[in-house]
Amino acid sequence: MKDTILIIGACGQIGSELTQKLRETYGNEHVVASDIREGKEDLMSSGPFEILDATDKEGILKIVQKYNVTQVYLMAAMLSATGEQYPQKAWDLNMNSLLGVLELAKDKHIKQVYWPSSIASFGPTSPKINTPQQTIMEPTTVYGISKLAGEHWCNYYHNRYGVDVRSIRYPGIISWKTKPGGGTTDYAVDIYFKAIEEKKYECFLTENTRLPMMYMQDAVNATIKIMQADASKIKTRTAYNLAAISFTPKEIAAEIKKHIPEFTISYKEDFRQQIADSWPQVIEDANAREDWNWKHQFDLELMTKEMLKNLQ
Ligand code: SER
Repeated sequence: MKDTILIIGACGQIGSELTQKLRETYGNEHVVASDIREGKEDLMSSGPFEILDATDKEGILKIVQKYNVTQVYLMAAMLSATGEQYPQKAWDLNMNSLLGVLELAKDKHIKQVYWPSSIASFGPTSPKINTPQQTIMEPTTVYGISKLAGEHWCNYYHNRYGVDVRSIRYPGIISWKTKPGGGTTDYAVDIYFKAIEEKKYECFLTENTRLPMMYMQDAVNATIKIMQADASKIKTRTAYNLAAISFTPKEIAAEIKKHIPEFTISYKEDFRQQIADSWPQVIEDANAREDWNWKHQFDLELMTKEMLKNLQ
């Protein structure tokens, strides 16, 4: 039987591009997109689309049964910066959505689950450079706490009930099709939009704040690759470290200047600086590379070319 996929949070930054790629791979009719509200026209018309609240377990089950869904990609979440404004809401959304989907998998309504974790699951006491897969993890944001707890729920459901759930600790994801919302790494997307529109950007992080990042195409490829890997290859059932590039606002600005010489950057830090300072700077991802053959393609130079070309 061919797999049928449900994407929850399909209109978000990662969800929208993941949906498109999964539809190309599995066929439009086999990929059901869903979100709490309507999204872009092409996403809603290129295959099935349903309005769905990620925390509504019964609503998810109805859609699973309607389309004979075998796999769920749960992409809905409240990110780090918004999470600090609404801690309780962030916890409820991020945890209840995951627990609902894990229960459906435990009860054999679905065969496979993808759920994203984040570099935010690390904290200020984790090593900042070459942050290992297994190390001290004491996150200080609600988003990070929810991701770390979620990782352990995934591991628990796998060990206790045999649920096939897979997860990646995404770095900041950079893309041009759909903007991220409410994250700390969002500056690295906004900077490209502003470089094209206004030739200048005021950054909410200081110039030397280094964070792990990745171009969307790499993130989508990694996501589909981990889901397609043979189950025996998935040795980590919390979440895999995943790395591509790490840079600072100053370095990305210098790269943009190579294409737009008049571009200028200024700095005015806000509450997101503290969040960024609590996260790793460079992630070590040997396990993902060994276990399921992960490789990234985009460095800062190539990503900048692609971003500016597509935004222009
Ligand atoms: N991009 C996310 C954020 O900044 C991290 O996972 O919140």
